[in-house]
Amino acid sequence: MKRYVILISGRGSNMGSLLDAGLPGSCAAVISNRPDAAGLAGAAARGIATAAIDHRGFASREEFDAALAAEIERHAPDLVLLAGFMRILGDAFVRRFEGRMLNIHPSLLPAFPGVKTHAQALAAGVRLHGCSVHFVTPALDGGPIVAQAAVPVQADDDDASLARRVLAEEHLLYPRVARWFLEGRLQLVDGRARLAGELPVAGALHAPLTA
Ligand code: GRF
Repeated sequence: MKRYVILISGRGSNMGSLLDAGLPGSCAAVISNRPDAAGLAGAAARGIATAAIDHRGFASREEFDAALAAEIERHAPDLVLLAGFMRILGDAFVRRFEGRMLNIHPSLLPAFPGVKTHAQALAAGVRLHGCSVHFVTPALDGGPIVAQAAVPVQADDDDASLARRVLAEEHLLYPRVARWFLEGRLQLVDGRARLAGELPVAGALHAPLTA
């Protein structure tokens, strides 16, 4: 059975959706860069090993990345899932896990990389917002997109209402993509996400999964 590790920084609702999805793999550990991340308790309550590697205890990004990589490698995962992990990872770290590390981002990439994506979407006046799962490469939120779920923006939306509807889609989309990877169907090939058995560029999901 394939093994995966989840990295979090906070609440861990995406982590919860992954752990509760009955994925065809075993979660070896949940690791946070913040010892106070609420998600760590959620992982422990599900009987998953947890670890915290506080980035504030390291003099440089490289040293933190090295300690984090060592902790991850200890569990020999086939897949690393970033789930609300809010530290920028250096190139060496990313290269080490390239092709076996995914991230979920709360926008329809390449629109609105970075933070405050819902405010960015409202300010831009887009009619469709959503979330993306992508392979992680050194370009921040810029790796090959695997799948997306779109959420219509409503006239009376504010940050919080839009975030809520996007998050509901995240909770469906990420386990679906993780399952593809753990089943051996999803690969990073020549810089593109390839999903066996479907279109060469993996399943763009045009409609809200909750519809
Ligand atoms: C999610 O919106 C995720 O896409 C973003 O940060 C948020 C984390 O939420 N990167 P949670 O910790 O999974 O609840």
